[in-house]
Amino acid sequence: MIIFKRLNFGYGKKDQEMSGEEEYNSLEKEEAVSKYKSEELTNTLSTNSLTKEKFNVTPWEVEGDVDYTKLIERFGTFSINESIINMIKHITGEIHPFIKNRFFFSHRDLDWVLGEYEKGNKFYLYTGRGPSGKVHLGHLLPWVFTKYLQDKFDVKLIFQITDDEKFLFNEDSNFNLIQKFTFENILDIIAMGFDPKKTRIIVNTRDIKYLYPLSTEIAKRITFSTAKAVFGFTNSTNIGMIGFPPIQGAPCFLPSLIEKRPTPVLIPAAIDQDPYWRMTRDLAEKLGYPKPAQIHSKFIPGLASGGKMSSSKPDTALFTVDDSEIIEKKVKNTYTGGQPTVALQRKLGGNANNCPVYWYLNYLFDNEKESQERYYACTSGNLLCGECKSDMIKKVKPFMADIQFKRKKAQDMISKFTIDGKELDDKINIKFE
Ligand code: TRP
Repeated sequence: MIIFKRLNFGYGKKDQEMSGEEEYNSLEKEEAVSKYKSEELTNTLSTNSLTKEKFNVTPWEVEGDVDYTKLIERFGTFSINESIINMIKHITGEIHPFIKNRFFFSHRDLDWVLGEYEKGNKFYLYTGRGPSGKVHLGHLLPWVFTKYLQDKFDVKLIFQITDDEKFLFNEDSNFNLIQKFTFENILDIIAMGFDPKKTRIIVNTRDIKYLYPLSTEIAKRITFSTAKAVFGFTNSTNIGMIGFPPIQGAPCFLPSLIEKRPTPVLIPAAIDQDPYWRMTRDLAEKLGYPKPAQIHSKFIPGLASGGKMSSSKPDTALFTVDDSEIIEKKVKNTYTGGQPTVALQRKLGGNANNCPVYWYLNYLFDNEKESQERYYACTSGNLLCGECKSDMIKKVKPFMADIQFKRKKAQDMISKFTIDGKELDDKINIKFE
């Protein structure tokens, strides 16, 4: 079983005051919730209640063996089906491997955004990063895809850094450290090669004035009951967190203000972010903006035993700043889906489906044919884990070296990406005459 875990915030869990069921019932009684009869928010009510299936997905915690088909049902999103794939092919002439191999597997209104694009109504991309630590290899996948979309469709991108979220959501966080990660993460983002003419990075605590009017409009229309239902907040959640979701919602509408017309927005994001968009979509039309569309990815495993991802255990992730010796050591020590002995591996074959090394090779480095061959060789016992690890090392090293080179250059490019064209450490300077 692969367990995906975001940071261990603890807050995603119910507190002791109410069981999930009690909370759900008390929610039902509250009239405020009944105002929200939209399809998307009604789906939400079951999102955080305890479910029979043994996985749980919130924006802050992903636990258990995620069944993505069931998750689509639970969240009320849509599978990326043949007809959407044909639409993409019709416009771009190709299908990106991340769609082919279903790393991006679910959506909301992607067909609508593509239809508008064909009519000449270009969309904005919007994505983001919570700067809770260093960026690792897995974080780059959605960004590689976002960059691809920017290039293919020639569109603008808003990139939000939720430094406030990461400060609020982690009990032990330290704001100075988060600011350091904000800077470091922005180097990674710039290193991805986004077009500086078409990309703006918004750092929430620094650039709040661009979001605040919109987030206030959103916040006014969300009751505490709805926030509890959508995000699983409880009475012991700090109020900063309770007030945060509108800030992540605001960039969905910013493009309409920038362009001075209702502007479609497409959000590439892991599916755990969907609650934010459900909330925002429900309000969009009331506020006169188009509903933001989404394209959802699956989660990214780390390299620890059980495929568990944990930013607090540096050995479980290949960071973009790791040098080649560290990369080699980490990959050599990584957990795999292999059998405990060579003899057993030959006899039983490996478990490629639960192997982070196979996962990374499949999604980032192997082409379709190589990946199929590797799968077959592994599961039939013809391939040993050492061979996959050495393939991975060979491919990851130059990939990371390239990013490190670009990260260095990114240091001089930050003001090309900030929303106000200034450097990041633009200090507050209050003067009285
Ligand atoms: N909340 C996200 C995280 O913790 C960051 C984020 C903000 C985001 N806006 C986004 C992610 C839009 C995807 C799309 O990582």
